[in-house]
Amino acid sequence: MKDYYAARANEYDNIYLKPERQDDLQDIRAWLTAELTGRKVLEIACGTGYWTQFYAPSAQRVVAVDAADETLVIAAERVSPNVQLLQGDAFDLPAFDMSFDAAFAGFWWSHISRKDIVRFLTGLHGSLEPGAEIIFLDNRFVPGSSTPIAEQDAAGNTYQRRALQDGSTHRVLKNFPTREQLLADISPHAKLSQYCEWEYFWALKYSLKR
Ligand SMILES: C[S@@+](CC[C@H](N)C(=O)[O-])C[C@H]1O[C@@H](n2cnc3c(N)ncnc32)[C@H](O)[C@@H]1O
Repeated sequence: MKDYYAARANEYDNIYLKPERQDDLQDIRAWLTAELTGRKVLEIACGTGYWTQFYAPSAQRVVAVDAADETLVIAAERVSPNVQLLQGDAFDLPAFDMSFDAAFAGFWWSHISRKDIVRFLTGLHGSLEPGAEIIFLDNRFVPGSSTPIAEQDAAGNTYQRRALQDGSTHRVLKNFPTREQLLADISPHAKLSQYCEWEYFWALKYSLKR
């Protein structure tokens, strides 16, 4: 996954140019910014900082982690001065020198294997203050707009075959969870939860139990 996104870094943002998704993206930018205003945010798998560039200027502080140096170089060019970019592993987060009352991850949940969800959530929640607000944003599967599913494994993970501009092809884990699946995954940890849907995207927002 990291190697695929490292190779894709320079063409990654093209995904945000799909014409049919522009109305949703505009709504979500405003929604996310309002949700994270004034917050101390831990962002997981920030990639090129596409979302960070919009919400961070009105957040209090942001630490944004990604595994790939190649995407972080692009993020560094566009994020506001209150953002600290950090190379790191979402499954093995470092000890931070600040506490966070919010977390955000865009288009990351879909890349977590079913078997790793509990491990990921345990690590993330351990870095946050009790009562912190957490937001995951990701893709809905929309025939004709989404890359088709090529395979499914026994655990229910789905995979796409994706091509990059250099001609290489990659088998990429990409899950499209239902609302029920998402709520079940976070229910042991969540106090208030809200599932939102746009035509092309879903978001899950919840507050961590105290
Ligand atoms: C689909 S991209 C999402 C980027 C960004 N959040 C966005 O919404 O545009 C997934 C990102 O996860 C990063 N990644 C892959 N494995 C990771 C890991 N174990 N820990 C942290 N980041 C990882 C990749 O480098 C890539 O930037």
